[in-house]
This record gives sequence, C-alpha cells and structure tokens, in this order.
Amino acid sequence: MEMMRISIHRRLLCSVYKVVLRSYVNSCRAVLLPRFGGPEVLQVHSDVPVPDLKPNEVLVRSRAVSINPLDTRMRSGYGRSIFEPLLPIILGRDVSGEVAAIGASVRSLVVGQEVFGALHPTAIRGTYTDYAILPENEVTAKPSSLSHVEASAIPFAALTAWRALKSTARISEGQRILVVGGGGAVGFSAIQLAVAAGCHVATTCGRESVDRMLKAGAEQAVDYVAEDVELAIRGKFDVVLDTIGVPETERYGINFLKRGGHYMTLQGEAASLADNYGLAIGLPLAKGAELKKQIKYRYSHGIEYSWTYMRADFEGLIEIRKLCDAGRLKIPVDKTFPITQVKDAHVAKDKKIIPGKVVLELS
Ligand SMILES: NC(=O)c1ccc[n+]([C@@H]2O[C@H](COP(=O)([O-])OP(=O)(O)OC[C@H]3O[C@@H](n4cnc5c(N)ncnc54)[C@H](OP(=O)(O)O)[C@@H]3O)[C@@H](O)[C@H]2O)c1
Repeated sequence: MEMMRISIHRRLLCSVYKVVLRSYVNSCRAVLLPRFGGPEVLQVHSDVPVPDLKPNEVLVRSRAVSINPLDTRMRSGYGRSIFEPLLPIILGRDVSGEVAAIGASVRSLVVGQEVFGALHPTAIRGTYTDYAILPENEVTAKPSSLSHVEASAIPFAALTAWRALKSTARISEGQRILVVGGGGAVGFSAIQLAVAAGCHVATTCGRESVDRMLKAGAEQAVDYVAEDVELAIRGKFDVVLDTIGVPETERYGINFLKRGGHYMTLQGEAASLADNYGLAIGLPLAKGAELKKQIKYRYSHGIEYSWTYMRADFEGLIEIRKLCDAGRLKIPVDKTFPITQVKDAHVAKDKKIIPGKVVLELS
C-alpha cells in the first residue's frame, strides 16, 4: 500500500514538473547543421524548438556532450543519403546531464536524476543542445564516480566496443583478443571490456598511448609507427577488433586469427555506399559486399568476418556504468570547450590538434 502511494505520488510529481517544464522549455539553445561542410557551417542558435516527448522518451538537461568521429564526419556529409533531406539537423550522440522530464511510459528514471547515454547513429536530433531527447533504453543513471565531462566521453564508444565484443563475437574468459587501434576511444573501451571479461589482450597504438594500454591490462602494446606490427605481435587470436579498418590492418588482422576466429571492422561501407548510390541501391550493394568478404575469408582462412556498428543496448549501458563505478572503465578527456566554441572544437578534431577525447560543456 505504502509502495503504491509512493509510486502514485512520484508519477503525480513527475507530471506536474513536466507540465511546468513544458510551459517554459518550448525552445532552447542548440548547435544546428544547416548544410554539410567544414566547422564554419555550425551555428549556435538560442531558440531551437524542443519537440513534445513521446511516451518512451526522456528529456535530458545536457551538461556535457562529447565529440565522436561520427559528428565531424556527419558534418562533412557522411550519411547524407539519410540526413540531407532532413537538414538542418543537430549533431552529437553522447550526453551526460539530468533528467528534466519523462514520457508517460518511462519507468526506469525520475526527474532530477543524473544520467548518461548515447543516441543511435541515425538519430536526427542529436545532443549538442541544452535539452536532448533520448529513448528510455538509450539512457541510464550516470556513474556516480564520474563527473558529467568524464561520463559524456563514454557511452557511444563503449557501446560500440560492447556491440562488437559482447553481442557479435561473444568473448569469454581466457580468449585472446587483438584490438587494432587501442589508443582511440572505441579501442580503449574494447581493451577495458575484454580485460574485465578475463581475456588476454594485445593492441596496436601510438607511442604516447603505450603505457596507458599496459596500465589498463593489455599484455602487449605495439607502437604501429615505430614497429613492424606483423613481426611484433605475438601468437594467434580468437577475436580481432579493427578500429582502423584500412586494407593493411584488415590483412594482418585476418592473418592473426586462429581458425574459427572472428574479425570485426568498424569501417563498414553501408553508409558510404548508400551516400554514393542512394539508400535503395547502396544498402543492398553493401550487404552484397560484406557477404562476398564473409564467404571469401570463410574459405581462405576459416574465420568469421563482420562489419560492426554501434547499437543501443540498455543492458550493455548498465554494465558499462557498473564497470565505470568499479574503476575498470574510463576514457581520458584531453580538452573541454564551452558549447559556444563548438567550431573551435571541431577544428581541433579535424586538424588532429587534440588527438584524444574532446568534450563540449553546457552550463
Ligand atoms: N561502425 C561504428 O558504428 C563506429 C562507431 C564508433 C566509431 N567508429 C569509427 O571507428 C574509428 C575509431 O573511433 P574512435 O571514437 O575510437 O576514434 P578516436 O578516439 O578519434 O581514435 C582514433 C585513434 O586511432 C589511432 N590510430 C590511428 N591510426 C592507427 C593505426 N594505423 N594503427 C593503430 N592505431 C591507429 C590513434 O591512436 P594513437 O593516439 O594511439 O595513435 C587515434 O587516436 C573512427 O574511424 C570512427 O569513425 C565506427
């Protein structure tokens, strides 16, 4: 009876808060992408409409949003087959902030709670805004041990690694995993997820990243600039996650696998083929191209081959939060910018002035 009373009270509070909030958050600040191009096309607007929430959606008062390579690529026209007819769009996938309002069917979160999460790669209304909207299954409680800036760096990259290692390759304790490009956010997440799962991990990375890889539990970290990766990496692997996905890394990644192993690349060609040939032709072409490689490598090497993509995974996000709070998963943030300096932040990423994670802060 007491529980029922609390639940009714809570829902009543939420709906009152939501009504109050809806009356003055009809519009908010957001970074708009009116057309594809360089950082100069980004526009900070103060009066962008905030749509009404659907029953399963959560309105998040954003405090920090991280920049992913997908953001700068989308800004330049990657994914134009989907996004061009919908311009202007809002960039950004990751967010950390507080719940400002919830849709009628949302049960896992309450107004005022600190949360973090990431939108699906094809979401139109991104997170570079004071008020982001995410489906309930793409957002959960923020790791309490992390600041908003630190938390915002994690979900998109870690869920990409989760999808590959946990959902696709189904890694298990004792397996040997090679992460090509462990220095990046996805690669570093993959190393930490694999170590936490009891796997033996080797990686390739830049010289500056070697110590960080070893501290995170990698047993071998090879500098891909100074060393010959094919000679330096020891032994064969059950799983290779290739975050770089150029012909050279694909060739040696596949050669490093045991028979029955699994090669996954983050550089699938679905979006670029759809951009070149349109969705109707490009997507079947992409399916055909991936299938051709799957058949080829099954016969030549006896391995599984896949293009892997970030996907929302509610259970995965909760596990990622637990690993963060246990001190087993973290992505270092190199620099923060206020959201008003979003153009400078994109220039810094485009020109590789800042190699690591960049986060935009919203006060
Ligand atoms: N398919 C998907 O759904 C999906 C999702 C997320 C990301 N991605 C893609 O995956 C890639 C990585 O994303 P991210 O967020 O991890 O990017 P990121 O944080 O910017 O990492 C890039 C890192 O790659 C490393 N690197 C570059 N060339 C290398 C090479 N030849 N060998 C080894 N390491 C190399 C560099 O690390 P060092 O500093 O150690 O040199 C660089 O810092 C991007 O291309 C991104 O677009 C795809």
